[in-house]
Amino acid sequence: MAKVALITGVTGQDGSYLSEFLLGKGYEVHGIIRRSSVDYRERIAHLEGTPHFHLHYADMGDSMSLVKLVGKVQPDEIYNLAAQSHVQVSFDAPEFTADVDAVGVLRILEAVRTNHLEKTCRIYQASTSELYGKVEEVPQNENTPFHPYSPYAVAKLYGYWIIKEYREAYNMFCCSGILFNHESERRGETFVTRKITLAAARIAQGTQECLYLGNLDSLRDWGYAKDYVECMWLILQYDKPEDFVIATGVQHTVREFATLAFHHAGIELRWEGEGVDEKGIVVAVSHQPSEVSSQKSAVRIGDIVVRVSPDFYRPTDVVNLLGDPSKAKRELGWNPQKTSFEQLVELMVKHDMQKVTREHFNLAEYLEKGIVK
Ligand code: NAP
Ligand code: GDD
Repeated sequence: MAKVALITGVTGQDGSYLSEFLLGKGYEVHGIIRRSSVDYRERIAHLEGTPHFHLHYADMGDSMSLVKLVGKVQPDEIYNLAAQSHVQVSFDAPEFTADVDAVGVLRILEAVRTNHLEKTCRIYQASTSELYGKVEEVPQNENTPFHPYSPYAVAKLYGYWIIKEYREAYNMFCCSGILFNHESERRGETFVTRKITLAAARIAQGTQECLYLGNLDSLRDWGYAKDYVECMWLILQYDKPEDFVIATGVQHTVREFATLAFHHAGIELRWEGEGVDEKGIVVAVSHQPSEVSSQKSAVRIGDIVVRVSPDFYRPTDVVNLLGDPSKAKRELGWNPQKTSFEQLVELMVKHDMQKVTREHFNLAEYLEKGIVK
């Protein structure tokens, strides 16, 4: 019998990679989608219609929908990835964030208990390095004290503790993966890495003039999302329910990410000024290989292509995340260095250079045919 997995957040970056991973392992995969006025399921469109992949409407804010779905699907494993996952947005929508990211976890646990599946169903909770927040030690491991530093992190801290509570109170196999930032070609476009790689591609191809960023000094431990979903699965296959830090153990600033991303888009930058006056200035431009872009670079030496805008500053910002993945390496046999920082930036820029080229051609074709004026 194939194992049955239920994924909340299946349309997200991680949900899409995890679906592919579990289907590859022979699972029957069920995912939760929510109603929206536009169907935005780009990341999983290629999976829809395949025999072992099923989508169901439900919502993390709607207990009844979760109880009914868990009863219908009878999952062996639940991967609770659904969340309002944007830290800056959590300052603008703190109540919604708490409802989905904190109480939503409780709703999943109770849906399992209501359906009497607590002895058979294993639950993975998408926890986060944001719990360390205003960090109390560097690097951070499973024993580092938490100091959440945003409404998002406070909500996720509830999720972390309620998972631990149900594990101890009801002997349930439920675990948190404390994942550090992980990125990919499918990363949401307002997270800093994807915002940078898309902007670098557009600036290189002349469809954007300047990229506005917030805190350039912020340090992150960035890994590749495709590598991280394997760990979610490994955590649920482990012989005991335990929590794990998942990270690469290497950190870089936002400025370093931007410098490397522009380099892969054919633009070399130097940085001048400080704080809100800091600027990224073009010092050299090279032509892109034709498989990456068909166009010549539109920027010139001396152009300012990155500026700082206080709009992207946060009321409290987490600035020094560096994970220690020793436990995952030792206990799960996971390789934290499978994809390096340099490879990650390169693959994201390469993807976005091609995406921007396609956008440009589509627009040119439409204009030629008189479809848009
Ligand atoms: P993401 O791309 O933003 O995806 C979030 C998913 O949650 C989407 O499928 C979204 O559905 C769904 N969702 C949001 N509100 C919902 C609701 N009320 N009901 C049902 N579904 C809802 O996030 P991600 O990067 O894949 O991250 C996955 C999880 O890991 C999140 O819990 C995030 O907080 C956590 N995490 C991420 C990272 C990281 O670096 N990526 C690191 C640590 C932890 P729609 O498509 O309909 O919006
Ligand atoms: N989004 C964004 N936009 N962030 C910026 C910008 C900008 O223009 N400029 C600088 N930053 C800085 C932020 O202040 C933050 O310190 C850092 O870049 C990373 O921001 P994000 O990419 O938005 O990610 P995050 O670290 O806040 O949150 C992500 O990682 C968490 C794990 O640590 C999300 O995926 C969370 O869901 C996840 O839990």
